[in-house]
Formats: sequence, C-alpha cells, structure tokens
Amino acid sequence: MPTIEPERSASPPSDLKPHQFRQVAESFGVDAERYDRTRPPYPDAMVTRIIEASPGPDVADVGTGTGTAARQFQAAGCKVLGVEPDARMADFARRSGVEVEVATFEAWEPAGRQFDAVVAGTAWHWVDPVAGAAKAARVLRPGGRLAPFNHVAQAPPELADAAARAYRQVAPDSPFNRSNQPRGSALDLYQPLFAKIADGIREAGGFSEPEQWQFDWERTYSRDEWLDQLPTLGSLTGLPSDKVALVLAEVGAAIDAIGGSFTMTYATVVVTAARADRTP
Ligand SMILES: C[S@@+](CC[C@H](N)C(=O)[O-])C[C@H]1O[C@@H](n2cnc3c(N)ncnc32)[C@H](O)[C@@H]1O
Repeated sequence: MPTIEPERSASPPSDLKPHQFRQVAESFGVDAERYDRTRPPYPDAMVTRIIEASPGPDVADVGTGTGTAARQFQAAGCKVLGVEPDARMADFARRSGVEVEVATFEAWEPAGRQFDAVVAGTAWHWVDPVAGAAKAARVLRPGGRLAPFNHVAQAPPELADAAARAYRQVAPDSPFNRSNQPRGSALDLYQPLFAKIADGIREAGGFSEPEQWQFDWERTYSRDEWLDQLPTLGSLTGLPSDKVALVLAEVGAAIDAIGGSFTMTYATVVVTAARADRTP
C-alpha cells in the first residue's frame, strides 16, 4: 500500500547515513512554533513503559527539539535534560519548561552526569548510530535504558501518491526523493532504519540485545491541520516557499478529493536496550 512517511520522507534513505545530512538535521528550527503546535505527542503507554523499564527518573532527551517528548516524561515524574543542537528549537523548549544544553549528542559534554534513560523522539536517525550508542552507554547507569523512538505514519494511498508526485516535481534530485522506490507498508519501509539503530547498539557494545516495542494509534486530520504540519517535515524545511506551496496545493487537493479529512494510522516504534553492568 502506498505510504506517506513523515519522518522517512524527512530523512534520507537509511543507506545514505541520514546523520551526515547536517543541513537538514538542524533545519527544524526554521519554524519552531509551528513544529511544536503541529507535531503529535508520543503515546502515554510508551512513556510509561520506558519509565517502568528504567532504574530511576533521570532522563536525557536527545534531539529534544521543542520539548515534545521531554514534557511528557516530565509530566510522568521524570527529571529531564534535553540535548539539542538547534538553538532555535532549544529556546522554544526552554520557554516551555525544559532544561536544554545546545550541542549534538555526539559532541555534548556530560561532565560526569549519569542518567537512568537516554531517550530520543524522532531524532536518533540524525545521530551517528554507533557513536551515539557508545555515548549513551557512557552516560547511563548500569541497567539504564537507551530508548530511541519514531512515529511511523501510514496515510491513505491517495494522499501518499499526491505527496510523492509533488515532491518528484519540486525536488527530483533530492536524496529525500523516495518516489521511485517500490511502495510498501510504512512499517516495512522503516525496518531498515530500526535495524540500523539496533546494529549501532550492538556495535557500540555494553548493552543487552535490542528489542522493538510498538504502540499503535490513529489520528484524524482536517485538511488545514495536515497542511499546517506538512512544512515541518525535514524534506520541506529547506525548500523555497513557492515549492512548499506547490506540495501543499497538491496534497490539499488530494484531501479535498477524499472528503476534506483523513485518518492517519500511526505506529510508534521504540528500539531499546538496557546498559549492561559493565561497559566494554
Ligand atoms: C524531528 S526533530 C524531533 C524533535 C523532538 N524530539 C520531537 O519528538 O518532536 C529532530 C531533532 O533532532 C535534532 N538533532 C539533529 N541532529 C542531532 C544530533 N546529532 N544530536 C542531537 N540532536 C540532533 C534536530 O535539531 C531536531 O530538533
């Protein structure tokens, strides 16, 4: 079934090492307010499960962005430190009550601090998967949990086709252009990304065997709500406004044609492992 892939279309294909695309990786702050307003939060059941599987309440949130996930962990009783390289996103997160240090996770200086969980909401694909896992192993207490998670979104086929058509038109040479790839379920398309995260954890060493947890949910979007969120995707943040407008027009027409609203089916997937007693 055709898919629309908010973060995969926002991320280069995993074989291209997304974390090396720094311009896109740090582009989300171009409209931090819109980002925070429109991006969906993570399932409460996921937050609870990560907390219950961690030895304590100290959480480092990698790629905290505007603080979406950080605020959810705070609300559940955790003490959260965000690590975020884009100062515009970090400013927004601070204003919303999240403590943030501005750095990439790879370059961030933990200064001896230790955490019970290192989480990352839709951000770990922008981090070097091996160096990131090795850094997480360094800052986690024994038994502490590394838990990057991503939303996987499956849209109606009409919408995915319209988005692919428009993107092919406005950015035919972009490494984000997946429109010529064979179509499959969004979860199938994300599996190489999740495998890469798990491989990075294994290669870094010092962790239990990675597991994958999945939380299914859905959300209905009106045309306006979806068109409000669309420009926050990494595949669009760097495009000139006339090209973004063309994508919005094409996708908006597709939503009109199916009745003016649609239901997005989401799976939020966590790839997770616990720090072993000793790091290598
Ligand atoms: C798609 S946003 C996700 C933001 C937030 N976690 C959320 O769930 O809404 C990805 C974030 O990762 C940040 N990022 C990119 N490269 C990073 C790196 N190497 N280390 C830490 N964060 C990074 C970006 O600046 C951006 O704010």
